[in-house]
Amino acid sequence: MNTASHPHPVPPVGKTPAFEWSEHLLTGDSRMDHTHEEFATQLNALLATPAAQQLPLYQAFLDHTVAHFAQEDRWMLATGFAASNCHTDQHAMVLETMQAVVSHYEKGETDIINRMGEALAEWFAQHAVSMDAGLAQHLQSIGFDSATETMAEAQATRNATVSSCANSSQS
Ligand SMILES: [Fe+2]
Ligand SMILES: [Fe+2]
Repeated sequence: MNTASHPHPVPPVGKTPAFEWSEHLLTGDSRMDHTHEEFATQLNALLATPAAQQLPLYQAFLDHTVAHFAQEDRWMLATGFAASNCHTDQHAMVLETMQAVVSHYEKGETDIINRMGEALAEWFAQHAVSMDAGLAQHLQSIGFDSATETMAEAQATRNATVSSCANSSQS
């Protein structure tokens, strides 16, 4: 969905969203924030769907999350992070768990997508304001433009001291 014209995902009528989008989740990187709003919209749509019909939506949500995490991992690599760092490792762990859910669901554990969705809502609220916000601040401080994925100053990464763990206390 094009969230540009709907900056704040609207919950389905009559249903409390599992994941409340709010301004405090904004990281200041507009491309990252756009991806996060799509994440929230898809998560709420998934949780508003009866369990028996969730698998196709879950697969699409999983694909979106693969791309969401790959995007941030790519920006980290481009700006001086080691290939293995706290933030990237956390993405990998979450994706592994999300992928495992599919086979459990297919074996008849059909409430597992709801449980995963609720866990993700809780996890994401912490992740966005810690690791993602830290990454956005880092990108901005060294002049990395996430829209074009280019550095304003080619030398910046050489001098950057990067620790993705600095904001991970809540994870
Ligand atoms: Fe993110
Ligand atoms: Fe992240």
